[in-house]
Amino acid sequence: MYDLTVIIPTFNEEANIRNIVMAVDAVFYEHSLNGQILVVDDSSSDATISILHELKMQKTNLEILIRKEDHGLSQSVADGFSHASSDVFIVIDADFSHPPVLIPRMYDEIRNGHDIVIGSRYMEGGGIRKWPLKRRIISIGATFLGRLLFPDITDPVSGFFAVKKEVVEKAPLKPRGYKILLEVLGKGTWEKDKEIPFEFVDREIGASKLKINTIIDYARQVADITLYSFVNHGSAAWREWKRVFKFGIVGLLGIVVNLGVLYLLVEYGILNKDLASPLAIEFSILNNFIWNDLWTFGSAEDQKVSSRWHRFVAFNIVSVGGAAINYGIFLVLTTWFAVYYLAAQLIGILIAFVWNFLINRR
Ligand code: GDD
Ligand code: MN
Repeated sequence: MYDLTVIIPTFNEEANIRNIVMAVDAVFYEHSLNGQILVVDDSSSDATISILHELKMQKTNLEILIRKEDHGLSQSVADGFSHASSDVFIVIDADFSHPPVLIPRMYDEIRNGHDIVIGSRYMEGGGIRKWPLKRRIISIGATFLGRLLFPDITDPVSGFFAVKKEVVEKAPLKPRGYKILLEVLGKGTWEKDKEIPFEFVDREIGASKLKINTIIDYARQVADITLYSFVNHGSAAWREWKRVFKFGIVGLLGIVVNLGVLYLLVEYGILNKDLASPLAIEFSILNNFIWNDLWTFGSAEDQKVSSRWHRFVAFNIVSVGGAAINYGIFLVLTTWFAVYYLAAQLIGILIAFVWNFLINRR
């Protein structure tokens, strides 16, 4: 048994295969990792396979899986999952688009309790070098679709990731799925994910194998995962949607509280409207906090971070901008434009909502 298995899918990689195997093995050595290298090759027609057999004579931790039945990147990675001799899998391209030096960090994050660790091109610190505009646009489109399923993940279609064996062991991974990570996220059993940034560098040697009908395959894959999560309520995508839905309900309730408190304070002559408005706003913040804290983000996982009191103070700080906008618009509309005070408050709420959305999205 090894500590981890680095899975390298290959098809006609004669120019890269020796270097990538050496580089991954050097990383193992430097970090004293007992690692396995599993190359999954789709019957390359160039010298890839003979180079691999040659390498195998020096490296006992190198395993070669030559596939003959079908052809495809995702299938190859999925086959790698079931042939690996460890409980941690890391998938990496052969063409040095993904930096092997990040392997130990990904492994550490898995050991620290994360189920999936994703190398992200789209988070702060990540990036893409040397990609033509066409590929960038396709990638942004694919990422956008993927984020509909997993809003918290910046790069759900990355080809560079680590995953625990138990996440994928029983997952019904579809061989047609073009993006294996999306398939793993959609159908695997997992709770905790982590992203680490990296810069994707397009291959120096050889040609990319991306074809146009892969886009159609991808759309079908997204539809399939969507369907899967509607049926399997334990899935991660369903969990996300439930949150977005609850968050929306709490927001609507917050509007009712805000306007209701304002109405009662003013109509019963307790406060004048200019003082009642900020109090009503604070009540709605309190309402949103309580429901989101107990209900929307009520799992033990969400609540580990700090005490409830800390979270409430933090929530208020985050809400300051929106609250100021709400109140500012209320004052402007009621004093200068003589707008009915409840209408002014509602307009303030809606504009504050847009502001909050733009600012807090991340
Ligand atoms: N076994 C096998 N079968 N391997 C394949 C196949 C195949 O049909 N097609 C490609 N590969 C291998 C390549 O040899 C390389 O190691 C890796 O998979 C990536 O292939 P590239 O052709 O270099 O892909 P790319 O650079 O266009 O796409 C990469 O970027 C995507 C992110 O946008 C890949 O890493 C994708 O996995 C990644 O999602
Ligand atoms: Mn590539």
